[in-house]
Amino acid sequence: MECRWRAASARADRRIDPISDRMPTGRDAVVLNGCADARESANQVRRFPSGFAWGAATAAHQIEGAWNEDGKGESIWDRFAHTPGKIRNGDHADRACEHYRRYPEDIALMRAMNLTSYRFSIAWPRVQPSGSGEPNSRGLDFYSRLVDSLLEAGIRPLPTLYHWDLPQALEDGGGWPNRDTAARFADYAGIVARALGNRVSSWLLFNEPVAFTSMGYLRGIHAPGMKSIRAFLKSTHTVNLAQAGGFRAVKAACPKARVGSAFSMSPCEPATNSPADILAAERAHRITNCWFLEPALHGTYPHAFPFLPDSLIGMSASDMHQMRAPLDFIGINLYYRTMARAAAWSKRLFDPGFTIFPVKMYPGSEGPATDIGWEVWPRAIYDLLMRITRDYDHPVIETTESGCSYNDGPNHDGRIHDTRRIAYHRAYLNHLARAIEDGADVRGYHAWTLMDNFEWAEGYGQRFGLVHVDFATQARTIKESGKWYAEVAARNAVDAISAS
Ligand code: FCB
Repeated sequence: MECRWRAASARADRRIDPISDRMPTGRDAVVLNGCADARESANQVRRFPSGFAWGAATAAHQIEGAWNEDGKGESIWDRFAHTPGKIRNGDHADRACEHYRRYPEDIALMRAMNLTSYRFSIAWPRVQPSGSGEPNSRGLDFYSRLVDSLLEAGIRPLPTLYHWDLPQALEDGGGWPNRDTAARFADYAGIVARALGNRVSSWLLFNEPVAFTSMGYLRGIHAPGMKSIRAFLKSTHTVNLAQAGGFRAVKAACPKARVGSAFSMSPCEPATNSPADILAAERAHRITNCWFLEPALHGTYPHAFPFLPDSLIGMSASDMHQMRAPLDFIGINLYYRTMARAAAWSKRLFDPGFTIFPVKMYPGSEGPATDIGWEVWPRAIYDLLMRITRDYDHPVIETTESGCSYNDGPNHDGRIHDTRRIAYHRAYLNHLARAIEDGADVRGYHAWTLMDNFEWAEGYGQRFGLVHVDFATQARTIKESGKWYAEVAARNAVDAISAS
């Protein structure tokens, strides 16, 4: 019998964008496993569909440095990190990994790791220093050079337009709670798409809207450091409007572009089997996973809150229509699962947060914890991918982030033996492969992150990279996990482990 994998693998030689080209779907993937050659029988490795993207992800503020060079404006993260007491150890990202000038070296690392996709973000204040008006050509030139160099290296550029670094001038004018920011974002998206759209085929609009709106405007632990339920709710609505406006702006500039967003997602499990906790978990799912997806795909908000007057989020009559954006693919960032329990009545009566949203959400803690304290729970990725596949009728998905913080440093042999990171990615990839076999249309995986970097409020204290960075010298060393990942990418397969 002709092995369909061999037929398909001929295509792997030419560079493809897994988002725009049709790839074998779940059922084909089962066949792919069935066609494994004699050395790698199906029960030893899990193969991925031909053309599957093997990538790493980064964000501008976390790696670029050069915070005020070549006309770049101040971002809310520059301001936040320069404010004493906000970031662990007083760290800031003024230099970070100096990727702004070391990007050729970093692309060489990507090549050494056989990456076929690189997800990076564009710093809005580099392109529009005060968030509106004429673009800064020196800022755009940097991204243009980056994209060209990636293409020369045979790596797909996958830019994210917003990974949390709002121009400070826009924050001064009301930030995300101000709905005018949505129009500013659409203008900015159009500028970038016109500049890079002849070379970039796939785009991500936002990174983790639920994370930056809640941590920045509700909990105050990220920039701009506000603590207000009202500001949080309004900011979510502006971002939904911006997402759709940005989608239209990119499509207007490049009609063939494939446009998605990267959402932080996490399966939400009830603490007990009680009906109240099951309902709480469902509410948690709707706010965590669907609050920015449902408006784009269906023009509505999911029923996460028992009661939420339109005025609280700043919703007006035509907004349902305005929020719609038929995303071409869904980016999913997934690290862990979320537990949910119904809030006690005493809390609902006296705590305004629980009055509006009567759910206590907390991280799972059965699995081992990484150095940042996040639970390792590999089947989270399977459960979530299958739920989204079921509920949204088999959308095209890319895993835009997954990874773990382990602060292993160089050994006496100069190597970084981060075996726990290898175990993490191997386990998550096994469950991802299982989801593909069961029908999820996942086209790629991006490890968070290419190299150790500025981890927001944690500063340089948490290392998620496949590459170790010595921040005093800027020396980069590929960790053992990076070498392992290079092999996975080259084989398009991962060692099988028993699923649990
Ligand atoms: C994600 C963020 C990314 C990084 C990882 C660890 O939530 O998108 O920038 O901080 O977590």
